[in-house]
Amino acid sequence: MDYQPLLEQIAADVAPLVGGGTPAEYIPALASVDPGQFGMAVADLDGNVYGVGDWRVPFSAQSITKVFALALALAEGGDSLWERVGREPSGNPFNSLVQLEYENGIPRNPFINAGALVVTDRLQTLTGDASSELLKFLQEESGNPELGFDAEVAASEHEHGDRNAALAHFMASYGNIDNPVPALLDHYFWQCSIEMSCADLARAARFLARHGLRTDGSRLLTRSEAKQVNAVMLTCGTYDAAGEFAYRVGLPGKSGVGGGIVAVVPGVCTLAVWSPGLDPHGNSVAGVAALDRFTTLTGLSVF
Ligand code: DON
Repeated sequence: MDYQPLLEQIAADVAPLVGGGTPAEYIPALASVDPGQFGMAVADLDGNVYGVGDWRVPFSAQSITKVFALALALAEGGDSLWERVGREPSGNPFNSLVQLEYENGIPRNPFINAGALVVTDRLQTLTGDASSELLKFLQEESGNPELGFDAEVAASEHEHGDRNAALAHFMASYGNIDNPVPALLDHYFWQCSIEMSCADLARAARFLARHGLRTDGSRLLTRSEAKQVNAVMLTCGTYDAAGEFAYRVGLPGKSGVGGGIVAVVPGVCTLAVWSPGLDPHGNSVAGVAALDRFTTLTGLSVF
């Protein structure tokens, strides 16, 4: 299918929303991004990539990297990860602390910050260099060897990282963190700072549409694991707005406070969208609207 005319139509439809919402303010390096940008890309499983607007402009992937870290941790270390992190929506903001004490230091899911810290901790134990392994994987799957960390964003995260540090130390007190917390936070902040465009993201996520198969045809995840990651994206990938996202879009999706969202149509294609203005839950306003238009216009969804 030629997705190009569809993307042009979606870009026109959501244009009035671009610039709406607020770019992430708690990381100064993100607050200064021009909010008037919008890009969207579709990657099909034959290797074609279609795009519109700012689809080639790199932005801060932020929490979208949590999907790839989860996939690598499962691929390298298997199911035992689920003894340390749950698979239920939290119903709370992504950086919330409250549930952790009631639930004995086991985060609700791998996509809230607490859960992502556990995943990165696991990946660090398995590989010895979690953030570099993740970057290498993203470079390979996107076919873009230029992908890199943004040192300014990583430094900014560090400076404003008290809450993530609190989450990590609190979980460590329950024995749910294996590595020294400062080293874990370094890897987590580097991971969040990776810069990718919509084109890079759509390409890199294709293993989730290909039921676990990587770009080179090798298997990263079993078919069942790929289904599991997609399922957790659907139920937990957009935080305390995951119900609304599933209702409007009907696809597994993962957002980041850089304004990006990646979504998967299993067996068909991947989608990536970016616009920096966020809603109060931390999801891109124009990005969610564009994905909503995509599934409405095409009828493609998991339902
Ligand atoms: O942990 C943080 O605060 C960020 N660097 C990542 C947060 C993020 O993208 C959550 N998303 N919507």
